[in-house]
Amino acid sequence: MAEIVFAPLQMGFSAWRDVARDCLAAGLEPSRVEWGAPQGLFSAFGVPKPEAPAPMPTVPRRFMQVARRVAHHRDDRRASTLYRVLWRLTHGEPRLLESAADPDVVELRTLDAQVRRSAHKTKAFVRFRKVEAEDGEHFVAWIQPDHPVLPLLGEFFAERFSDMRWSILSPDASLHYDGKSWSLGPGRPRSAAPTHDELEALWKTYYRAIFNPARVMVKAMTSEMPKRHWHTLPETSEIPGLLADSARRVDAMLAMPSAPEGPTAHALVSELDDLASLHEALSSCRGCELHEAATAPVPGRGSPHAPIVLVGEQPGDLEDRAGRPFVGPAGRELAQALEAAGLSHDEVYLTNAVKHFSYAPSGKRRLHSKPRATHIRACRPWLLAELERIRPRVVVCLGATAARALLGVEVRVMRDRGTPRACAWAPHALVTVHPAAALRAKDAGRAAELRAALRSDLARARALARGAPEKEVESS
Ligand code: URA
Repeated sequence: MAEIVFAPLQMGFSAWRDVARDCLAAGLEPSRVEWGAPQGLFSAFGVPKPEAPAPMPTVPRRFMQVARRVAHHRDDRRASTLYRVLWRLTHGEPRLLESAADPDVVELRTLDAQVRRSAHKTKAFVRFRKVEAEDGEHFVAWIQPDHPVLPLLGEFFAERFSDMRWSILSPDASLHYDGKSWSLGPGRPRSAAPTHDELEALWKTYYRAIFNPARVMVKAMTSEMPKRHWHTLPETSEIPGLLADSARRVDAMLAMPSAPEGPTAHALVSELDDLASLHEALSSCRGCELHEAATAPVPGRGSPHAPIVLVGEQPGDLEDRAGRPFVGPAGRELAQALEAAGLSHDEVYLTNAVKHFSYAPSGKRRLHSKPRATHIRACRPWLLAELERIRPRVVVCLGATAARALLGVEVRVMRDRGTPRACAWAPHALVTVHPAAALRAKDAGRAAELRAALRSDLARARALARGAPEKEVESS
Protein backbone atom coordinates (compact mmCIF):
# COMPACT_ATOMS: atom_id res chain seq x y z
CA MET A 1 0.00 0.00 0.00
CA ALA A 2 1.30 3.46 -0.86
CA GLU A 3 2.39 5.33 2.26
CA ILE A 4 0.57 8.27 3.79
CA VAL A 5 2.25 11.64 3.61
CA PHE A 6 1.84 14.23 6.37
CA ALA A 7 1.23 17.74 5.10
CA PRO A 8 1.73 20.70 7.44
CA LEU A 9 -1.54 22.30 8.44
CA GLN A 10 -1.42 26.06 8.85
CA MET A 11 -4.00 28.79 8.77
CA GLY A 12 -4.40 30.92 5.66
CA PHE A 13 -4.50 30.51 1.94
CA SER A 14 -0.88 30.87 0.85
CA ALA A 15 0.36 28.34 3.42
CA TRP A 16 -2.20 25.80 2.18
CA ARG A 17 -1.57 26.61 -1.49
CA ASP A 18 2.20 26.08 -1.24
CA VAL A 19 1.78 22.64 0.28
CA ALA A 20 -1.09 21.68 -2.03
CA ARG A 21 1.05 22.63 -5.04
CA ASP A 22 3.85 20.33 -3.89
CA CYS A 23 1.38 17.50 -3.22
CA LEU A 24 -0.05 17.87 -6.72
CA ALA A 25 3.40 17.98 -8.29
CA ALA A 26 4.26 14.74 -6.45
CA GLY A 27 1.06 13.14 -7.80
CA LEU A 28 -0.31 12.48 -4.29
CA GLU A 29 -3.92 11.43 -4.39
CA PRO A 30 -6.04 13.04 -1.63
CA SER A 31 -6.41 9.71 0.18
CA ARG A 32 -2.62 9.65 0.66
CA VAL A 33 -2.35 13.09 2.23
CA GLU A 34 -2.94 13.52 5.95
CA TRP A 35 -3.14 17.21 6.89
CA GLY A 36 -1.57 17.78 10.30
CA ALA A 37 1.28 16.51 12.44
CA PRO A 38 2.00 12.72 12.35
CA GLN A 39 0.33 10.88 15.20
CA GLY A 40 0.66 7.53 16.99
CA LEU A 41 2.64 4.76 15.32
CA PHE A 42 2.68 6.26 11.84
CA SER A 43 6.11 7.06 10.57
CA ALA A 44 6.34 10.61 9.35
CA PHE A 45 6.78 11.09 5.65
CA GLY A 46 6.75 14.76 4.71
CA VAL A 47 5.58 16.08 1.34
CA PRO A 48 8.44 15.64 -1.17
CA LYS A 49 9.78 19.02 -2.28
CA PRO A 50 10.05 19.37 -6.06
CA GLU A 51 13.43 20.53 -7.41
CA ALA A 52 11.94 23.68 -8.91
CA PRO A 53 8.85 25.36 -7.45
CA ALA A 54 5.80 23.72 -9.03
CA PRO A 55 3.37 26.03 -10.82
CA MET A 56 -0.23 26.16 -9.57
CA PRO A 57 -2.28 24.43 -12.27
CA THR A 58 -5.06 26.36 -13.94
CA VAL A 59 -8.30 26.08 -11.99
CA PRO A 60 -11.55 28.04 -12.18
CA ARG A 61 -11.26 31.53 -10.70
CA ARG A 62 -14.28 30.76 -8.53
CA PHE A 63 -12.38 27.95 -6.82
CA MET A 64 -9.52 30.30 -5.96
CA GLN A 65 -11.96 32.86 -4.54
CA VAL A 66 -13.67 30.23 -2.40
CA ALA A 67 -10.34 28.66 -1.36
CA ARG A 68 -9.04 32.03 -0.15
CA ARG A 69 -11.98 32.16 2.26
CA VAL A 70 -12.21 28.49 3.22
CA ALA A 71 -8.51 28.49 4.18
CA HIS A 72 -9.69 30.67 7.11
CA HIS A 73 -12.12 28.08 8.48
CA ARG A 74 -11.24 27.00 12.00
CA ASP A 75 -11.92 23.31 11.37
CA ASP A 76 -8.88 21.29 10.24
CA ARG A 77 -10.89 19.56 7.55
CA ARG A 78 -10.65 22.78 5.48
CA ALA A 79 -7.27 21.67 4.08
CA SER A 80 -8.33 18.16 3.03
CA THR A 81 -11.61 19.37 1.52
CA LEU A 82 -9.81 22.02 -0.50
CA TYR A 83 -7.22 19.50 -1.65
CA ARG A 84 -9.83 16.92 -2.71
CA VAL A 85 -11.64 19.51 -4.79
CA LEU A 86 -8.38 20.82 -6.25
CA TRP A 87 -7.30 17.29 -7.16
CA ARG A 88 -10.57 16.53 -8.91
CA LEU A 89 -10.59 19.86 -10.77
CA THR A 90 -7.14 19.10 -12.13
CA HIS A 91 -7.75 15.39 -12.80
CA GLY A 92 -10.50 15.26 -15.38
CA GLU A 93 -13.32 17.15 -13.63
CA PRO A 94 -12.77 20.82 -14.53
CA ARG A 95 -16.50 21.56 -14.16
CA LEU A 96 -16.84 19.93 -10.76
CA LEU A 97 -18.02 23.14 -9.06
CA GLU A 98 -21.14 23.11 -11.19
CA SER A 99 -22.26 19.82 -9.58
CA ALA A 100 -24.14 21.33 -6.67
CA ALA A 101 -25.08 17.89 -5.25
CA ASP A 102 -21.54 16.45 -5.25
CA PRO A 103 -20.54 15.73 -1.60
CA ASP A 104 -17.16 17.49 -1.94
CA VAL A 105 -18.81 20.53 -3.47
CA VAL A 106 -21.50 20.52 -0.78
CA GLU A 107 -18.82 20.40 1.91
CA LEU A 108 -16.82 23.18 0.25
CA ARG A 109 -19.90 25.38 0.02
CA THR A 110 -20.80 24.71 3.65
CA LEU A 111 -17.35 25.69 4.87
CA ASP A 112 -17.41 28.76 2.64
CA ALA A 113 -20.84 29.85 3.91
CA GLN A 114 -19.62 29.52 7.51
CA VAL A 115 -16.54 31.64 6.85
CA ARG A 116 -18.59 34.23 4.98
CA ARG A 117 -21.09 34.40 7.80
CA SER A 118 -18.29 34.85 10.30
CA ALA A 119 -16.81 37.65 8.14
CA HIS A 120 -20.22 39.28 7.91
CA LYS A 121 -20.68 39.18 11.68
CA THR A 122 -17.19 40.53 12.22
CA LYS A 123 -17.91 43.45 9.90
CA ALA A 124 -21.15 44.14 11.73
CA PHE A 125 -19.92 43.78 15.31
CA VAL A 126 -16.68 45.70 15.37
CA ARG A 127 -17.06 48.56 17.86
CA PHE A 128 -14.16 50.96 18.22
CA ARG A 129 -13.20 52.67 21.44
CA LYS A 130 -11.08 55.78 21.42
CA VAL A 131 -7.64 55.74 22.97
CA GLU A 132 -5.60 58.92 23.45
CA ALA A 133 -2.08 57.93 22.45
CA GLU A 134 0.98 60.19 22.59
CA ASP A 135 0.80 60.81 18.87
CA GLY A 136 -2.96 61.47 18.80
CA GLU A 137 -6.20 59.51 18.64
CA HIS A 138 -6.25 55.80 17.97
CA PHE A 139 -9.33 53.57 17.86
CA VAL A 140 -9.23 50.04 19.18
CA ALA A 141 -11.78 47.23 18.90
CA TRP A 142 -11.73 43.69 20.22
CA ILE A 143 -13.74 40.91 18.66
CA GLN A 144 -13.90 37.14 18.82
CA PRO A 145 -14.96 35.78 15.41
CA ASP A 146 -16.07 32.16 15.05
CA HIS A 147 -13.40 31.68 12.39
CA PRO A 148 -10.07 33.49 12.08
CA VAL A 149 -11.31 35.80 9.34
CA LEU A 150 -9.59 39.10 10.20
CA PRO A 151 -6.87 38.69 7.53
CA LEU A 152 -9.68 38.58 4.93
CA LEU A 153 -11.10 41.89 6.07
CA GLY A 154 -8.11 44.26 5.97
CA GLU A 155 -9.15 45.91 2.74
CA PHE A 156 -12.77 46.20 3.82
CA PHE A 157 -12.01 47.92 7.11
CA ALA A 158 -9.30 50.13 5.58
CA GLU A 159 -11.85 51.40 3.06
CA ARG A 160 -14.66 51.76 5.57
CA PHE A 161 -12.59 53.52 8.26
CA SER A 162 -10.07 55.27 6.06
CA ASP A 163 -9.98 58.55 7.98
CA MET A 164 -8.81 57.28 11.36
CA ARG A 165 -6.03 55.16 12.83
CA TRP A 166 -7.29 51.94 14.29
CA SER A 167 -6.54 48.41 15.47
CA ILE A 168 -8.90 45.47 15.54
CA LEU A 169 -7.75 42.81 17.97
CA SER A 170 -8.88 39.20 18.15
CA PRO A 171 -7.48 36.07 19.83
CA ASP A 172 -6.25 34.76 16.44
CA ALA A 173 -4.85 37.86 14.77
CA SER A 174 -4.96 41.64 14.80
CA LEU A 175 -5.43 44.22 12.07
CA HIS A 176 -3.87 47.66 12.18
CA TYR A 177 -4.39 50.74 10.02
CA ASP A 178 -2.08 53.76 10.24
CA GLY A 179 -4.14 56.11 8.05
CA LYS A 180 -2.46 54.86 4.86
CA SER A 181 -2.21 51.10 4.80
CA TRP A 182 -3.27 48.11 6.84
CA SER A 183 -1.14 45.35 8.30
CA LEU A 184 -1.62 42.11 10.11
CA GLY A 185 -0.30 41.32 13.58
CA PRO A 186 -0.49 38.50 16.13
CA GLY A 187 -3.60 37.66 18.18
CA ARG A 188 -4.27 39.68 21.35
CA PRO A 189 -6.29 38.93 24.49
CA ARG A 190 -9.39 40.90 25.34
CA SER A 191 -7.55 42.65 28.15
CA ALA A 192 -5.45 44.46 25.50
CA ALA A 193 -8.46 46.53 24.40
CA PRO A 194 -10.17 49.37 26.27
CA THR A 195 -13.76 48.79 27.40
CA HIS A 196 -15.41 52.22 27.67
CA ASP A 197 -15.39 55.61 26.03
CA GLU A 198 -17.75 58.34 24.88
CA LEU A 199 -18.41 56.56 21.54
CA GLU A 200 -20.58 54.16 23.48
CA ALA A 201 -23.35 56.75 23.84
CA LEU A 202 -23.31 57.20 20.06
CA TRP A 203 -23.70 53.49 19.39
CA LYS A 204 -26.59 53.30 21.83
CA THR A 205 -28.38 56.20 20.14
CA TYR A 206 -27.80 54.62 16.74
CA TYR A 207 -29.13 51.27 17.90
CA ARG A 208 -32.25 52.83 19.41
CA ALA A 209 -32.85 54.56 16.06
CA ILE A 210 -32.54 51.41 13.93
CA PHE A 211 -34.35 49.06 16.32
CA ASN A 212 -37.58 47.95 14.67
CA PRO A 213 -40.18 46.94 17.27
CA ALA A 214 -42.38 45.35 14.58
CA ARG A 215 -39.73 42.75 13.85
CA VAL A 216 -38.89 41.62 17.34
CA MET A 217 -37.95 37.96 17.23
CA VAL A 218 -35.84 37.25 20.24
CA LYS A 219 -34.61 33.90 18.92
CA ALA A 220 -33.58 35.39 15.60
CA MET A 221 -31.98 38.34 17.38
CA THR A 222 -29.79 36.11 19.50
CA SER A 223 -28.80 34.09 16.47
CA GLU A 224 -28.05 37.24 14.45
CA MET A 225 -26.23 38.87 17.35
CA PRO A 226 -24.88 35.88 19.30
CA LYS A 227 -24.58 36.44 23.04
CA ARG A 228 -20.85 35.80 22.74
CA HIS A 229 -20.53 39.23 21.08
CA TRP A 230 -22.71 41.11 23.52
CA HIS A 231 -20.01 42.13 25.96
CA THR A 232 -18.20 44.10 23.24
CA LEU A 233 -21.37 45.77 21.94
CA PRO A 234 -22.38 48.85 23.93
CA GLU A 235 -25.88 48.84 22.46
CA THR A 236 -26.84 45.49 24.00
CA SER A 237 -27.57 47.23 27.32
CA GLU A 238 -30.43 48.96 25.47
CA ILE A 239 -32.13 45.72 24.39
CA PRO A 240 -34.19 44.89 27.53
CA GLY A 241 -35.76 48.40 27.59
CA LEU A 242 -36.45 48.36 23.85
CA LEU A 243 -38.07 44.94 24.02
CA ALA A 244 -40.28 45.99 26.92
CA ASP A 245 -41.48 48.98 24.91
CA SER A 246 -41.91 47.20 21.56
CA ALA A 247 -45.66 46.36 21.83
CA ARG A 248 -46.56 50.00 22.45
CA ARG A 249 -44.37 51.13 19.52
CA VAL A 250 -45.90 48.56 17.14
CA ASP A 251 -49.39 49.89 17.93
CA ALA A 252 -48.17 53.39 17.16
CA MET A 253 -46.59 52.21 13.88
CA LEU A 254 -49.76 50.47 12.75
CA ALA A 255 -51.61 53.73 13.15
CA MET A 256 -49.20 55.34 10.65
CA PRO A 257 -49.94 55.26 6.90
CA SER A 258 -48.00 53.40 4.18
CA ALA A 259 -45.72 50.96 5.99
CA PRO A 260 -44.62 48.48 3.29
CA GLU A 261 -46.54 45.21 3.33
CA GLY A 262 -44.21 42.33 2.73
CA PRO A 263 -40.47 41.81 2.74
CA THR A 264 -38.20 44.75 2.10
CA ALA A 265 -34.72 44.74 0.59
CA HIS A 266 -33.24 44.88 4.09
CA ALA A 267 -34.96 41.63 5.01
CA LEU A 268 -34.20 39.86 1.73
CA VAL A 269 -30.58 40.73 1.02
CA SER A 270 -28.35 38.07 2.50
CA GLU A 271 -24.59 38.26 2.77
CA LEU A 272 -24.43 34.61 1.78
CA ASP A 273 -26.10 35.10 -1.59
CA ASP A 274 -24.15 35.29 -4.80
CA LEU A 275 -25.36 37.54 -7.60
CA ALA A 276 -27.71 34.96 -9.10
CA SER A 277 -29.41 34.27 -5.74
CA LEU A 278 -29.71 37.99 -5.09
CA HIS A 279 -31.50 38.42 -8.39
CA GLU A 280 -33.85 35.62 -7.41
CA ALA A 281 -34.56 37.17 -4.00
CA LEU A 282 -35.26 40.53 -5.65
CA SER A 283 -38.47 39.18 -7.14
CA SER A 284 -40.00 38.97 -3.62
CA CYS A 285 -39.24 42.58 -2.74
CA ARG A 286 -42.19 44.62 -1.50
CA GLY A 287 -40.10 47.40 0.01
CA CYS A 288 -42.07 50.17 -1.72
CA GLU A 289 -45.31 50.46 -3.66
CA LEU A 290 -43.66 50.37 -7.12
CA HIS A 291 -43.94 46.57 -7.20
CA GLU A 292 -47.74 46.86 -7.35
CA ALA A 293 -47.91 48.33 -10.85
CA ALA A 294 -44.67 47.10 -12.42
CA THR A 295 -44.45 43.76 -14.26
CA ALA A 296 -41.48 42.53 -12.22
CA PRO A 297 -38.26 43.94 -10.81
CA VAL A 298 -35.41 44.25 -13.29
CA PRO A 299 -32.10 42.95 -11.94
CA GLY A 300 -28.70 43.98 -13.26
CA ARG A 301 -27.05 42.13 -16.11
CA GLY A 302 -23.47 41.46 -17.11
CA SER A 303 -20.40 39.67 -15.85
CA PRO A 304 -20.07 39.28 -12.06
CA HIS A 305 -16.39 40.06 -12.64
CA ALA A 306 -16.94 43.21 -14.69
CA PRO A 307 -14.42 45.92 -13.79
CA ILE A 308 -17.01 48.63 -14.44
CA VAL A 309 -20.56 48.87 -13.05
CA LEU A 310 -22.90 51.33 -14.76
CA VAL A 311 -25.83 52.43 -12.63
CA GLY A 312 -28.88 53.91 -14.35
CA GLU A 313 -32.03 55.36 -12.86
CA GLN A 314 -34.80 52.76 -13.20
CA PRO A 315 -36.10 50.40 -15.90
CA GLY A 316 -38.25 51.97 -18.61
CA ASP A 317 -41.32 50.54 -20.30
CA LEU A 318 -39.39 48.11 -22.53
CA GLU A 319 -37.05 47.03 -19.74
CA ASP A 320 -40.04 46.32 -17.51
CA ARG A 321 -41.52 44.03 -20.15
CA ALA A 322 -38.20 42.38 -21.04
CA GLY A 323 -36.95 42.02 -17.45
CA ARG A 324 -33.54 43.34 -18.56
CA PRO A 325 -32.00 46.77 -18.05
CA PHE A 326 -31.13 49.10 -20.92
CA VAL A 327 -32.82 47.31 -23.81
CA GLY A 328 -34.86 50.32 -25.04
CA PRO A 329 -33.87 53.62 -26.70
CA ALA A 330 -31.66 54.72 -23.77
CA GLY A 331 -30.00 51.31 -23.93
CA ARG A 332 -29.22 51.78 -27.64
CA GLU A 333 -27.77 55.20 -26.92
CA LEU A 334 -25.67 53.69 -24.12
CA ALA A 335 -24.48 50.82 -26.33
CA GLN A 336 -23.24 53.32 -28.94
CA ALA A 337 -21.46 55.35 -26.28
CA LEU A 338 -19.81 52.21 -24.88
CA GLU A 339 -18.61 51.25 -28.32
CA ALA A 340 -17.28 54.75 -28.99
CA ALA A 341 -15.42 54.61 -25.66
CA GLY A 342 -13.86 51.26 -26.62
CA LEU A 343 -15.66 49.27 -23.94
CA SER A 344 -16.81 45.74 -24.62
CA HIS A 345 -19.88 44.11 -23.09
CA ASP A 346 -17.98 41.82 -20.76
CA GLU A 347 -16.25 44.82 -19.20
CA VAL A 348 -19.48 46.29 -17.88
CA TYR A 349 -22.31 45.30 -15.59
CA LEU A 350 -25.50 47.30 -16.11
CA THR A 351 -27.98 47.96 -13.35
CA ASN A 352 -30.30 50.60 -11.94
CA ALA A 353 -30.68 52.51 -8.69
CA VAL A 354 -34.37 51.55 -8.59
CA LYS A 355 -35.35 48.09 -9.79
CA HIS A 356 -39.08 48.54 -10.52
CA PHE A 357 -40.53 50.67 -13.32
CA SER A 358 -42.11 53.83 -11.94
CA TYR A 359 -44.68 55.22 -14.35
CA ALA A 360 -47.92 57.14 -14.75
CA PRO A 361 -50.56 55.58 -17.03
CA SER A 362 -51.66 57.77 -19.94
CA GLY A 363 -54.28 55.99 -22.07
CA LYS A 364 -52.58 52.83 -23.27
CA ARG A 365 -49.13 54.24 -22.60
CA ARG A 366 -47.04 54.10 -19.46
CA LEU A 367 -45.11 57.31 -19.06
CA HIS A 368 -41.83 57.32 -17.16
CA SER A 369 -42.17 59.01 -13.79
CA LYS A 370 -39.08 59.93 -11.80
CA PRO A 371 -38.53 57.65 -8.78
CA ARG A 372 -38.90 59.41 -5.44
CA ALA A 373 -36.36 59.51 -2.62
CA THR A 374 -38.34 56.80 -0.76
CA HIS A 375 -38.01 54.46 -3.79
CA ILE A 376 -34.27 55.10 -4.04
CA ARG A 377 -33.85 54.47 -0.33
CA ALA A 378 -35.95 51.31 -0.34
CA CYS A 379 -33.98 49.88 -3.27
CA ARG A 380 -30.51 50.94 -2.18
CA PRO A 381 -29.64 47.67 -0.35
CA TRP A 382 -30.06 45.80 -3.66
CA LEU A 383 -27.67 48.11 -5.44
CA LEU A 384 -25.13 47.97 -2.64
CA ALA A 385 -25.37 44.18 -2.52
CA GLU A 386 -24.67 44.00 -6.27
CA LEU A 387 -21.65 46.28 -5.84
CA GLU A 388 -20.39 44.28 -2.88
CA ARG A 389 -20.55 41.06 -4.89
CA ILE A 390 -18.86 42.53 -7.98
CA ARG A 391 -16.39 44.91 -6.29
CA PRO A 392 -15.70 46.75 -9.57
CA ARG A 393 -12.75 49.06 -10.19
CA VAL A 394 -15.07 51.80 -11.37
CA VAL A 395 -18.72 52.67 -10.65
CA VAL A 396 -20.33 55.03 -13.15
CA CYS A 397 -23.50 56.84 -12.03
CA LEU A 398 -25.58 57.60 -15.10
CA GLY A 399 -27.51 60.70 -14.12
CA ALA A 400 -28.75 62.27 -10.91
CA THR A 401 -30.77 59.38 -9.45
CA ALA A 402 -27.83 56.97 -9.47
CA ALA A 403 -25.48 59.68 -8.19
CA ARG A 404 -27.90 60.42 -5.39
CA ALA A 405 -28.27 56.77 -4.47
CA LEU A 406 -24.53 56.21 -4.20
CA LEU A 407 -22.81 59.51 -3.58
CA GLY A 408 -25.41 61.57 -1.75
CA VAL A 409 -27.72 64.47 -2.53
CA GLU A 410 -24.93 67.02 -2.85
CA VAL A 411 -23.77 65.74 -6.24
CA ARG A 412 -24.62 67.84 -9.32
CA VAL A 413 -24.26 65.96 -12.60
CA MET A 414 -23.11 68.78 -14.87
CA ARG A 415 -20.83 70.31 -12.24
CA ASP A 416 -19.24 67.05 -11.02
CA ARG A 417 -19.27 64.85 -14.11
CA GLY A 418 -16.11 63.15 -15.27
CA THR A 419 -14.12 63.77 -12.07
CA PRO A 420 -13.22 60.49 -10.38
CA ARG A 421 -13.65 60.12 -6.63
CA ALA A 422 -13.32 57.15 -4.31
CA CYS A 423 -16.39 55.51 -2.86
CA ALA A 424 -16.98 52.63 -0.45
CA TRP A 425 -17.69 50.13 -3.23
CA ALA A 426 -14.97 50.92 -5.76
CA PRO A 427 -11.65 52.72 -5.91
CA HIS A 428 -13.17 55.09 -8.49
CA ALA A 429 -16.67 56.51 -8.85
CA LEU A 430 -17.65 58.74 -11.75
CA VAL A 431 -20.79 60.71 -12.39
CA THR A 432 -21.91 61.31 -15.94
CA VAL A 433 -25.02 62.25 -17.89
CA HIS A 434 -27.77 59.70 -18.40
CA PRO A 435 -27.91 58.35 -21.99
CA ALA A 436 -31.59 59.37 -22.20
CA ALA A 437 -30.58 63.03 -21.73
CA ALA A 438 -29.35 63.19 -25.34
CA LEU A 439 -32.68 61.74 -26.53
CA ARG A 440 -34.62 64.40 -24.66
CA ALA A 441 -32.34 67.33 -25.58
CA LYS A 442 -34.13 70.38 -26.94
CA ASP A 443 -32.02 70.60 -30.11
CA ALA A 444 -29.41 68.68 -32.08
CA GLY A 445 -26.54 70.83 -30.79
CA ARG A 446 -27.36 70.09 -27.16
CA ALA A 447 -27.86 66.39 -27.94
CA ALA A 448 -24.37 66.27 -29.52
CA GLU A 449 -22.86 67.94 -26.44
CA LEU A 450 -24.49 65.47 -24.05
CA ARG A 451 -23.44 62.53 -26.21
CA ALA A 452 -19.85 63.75 -26.27
CA ALA A 453 -19.91 64.18 -22.48
CA LEU A 454 -21.16 60.62 -21.94
CA ARG A 455 -18.61 59.15 -24.32
CA SER A 456 -15.65 60.98 -22.89
CA ASP A 457 -16.68 60.07 -19.31
CA LEU A 458 -17.00 56.42 -20.31
CA ALA A 459 -13.56 56.60 -21.91
CA ARG A 460 -12.27 57.90 -18.59
CA ALA A 461 -13.96 55.00 -16.80
CA ARG A 462 -12.29 52.61 -19.21
CA ALA A 463 -8.87 54.16 -18.56
CA LEU A 464 -9.40 54.00 -14.79
CA ALA A 465 -10.52 50.38 -14.99
CA ARG A 466 -7.56 49.34 -17.08
CA GLY A 467 -5.11 51.67 -15.39
CA ALA A 468 -4.26 52.95 -18.91
CA PRO A 469 -4.09 56.40 -20.53
CA GLU A 470 -7.38 57.68 -21.92
CA LYS A 471 -8.30 57.02 -25.52
CA GLU A 472 -9.64 59.73 -27.81
CA VAL A 473 -13.34 59.24 -28.52
CA GLU A 474 -15.29 60.39 -31.51
CA SER A 475 -17.82 62.94 -30.48
CA SER A 476 -20.63 62.31 -32.99
N1 URA B 1 -33.04 54.05 -18.24
C1 URA B 1 -32.40 53.62 -17.14
O1 URA B 1 -31.93 54.38 -16.31
N2 URA B 1 -32.29 52.31 -16.97
C2 URA B 1 -32.77 51.42 -17.83
O2 URA B 1 -32.61 50.23 -17.58
C3 URA B 1 -33.42 51.90 -18.98
C4 URA B 1 -33.55 53.22 -19.16
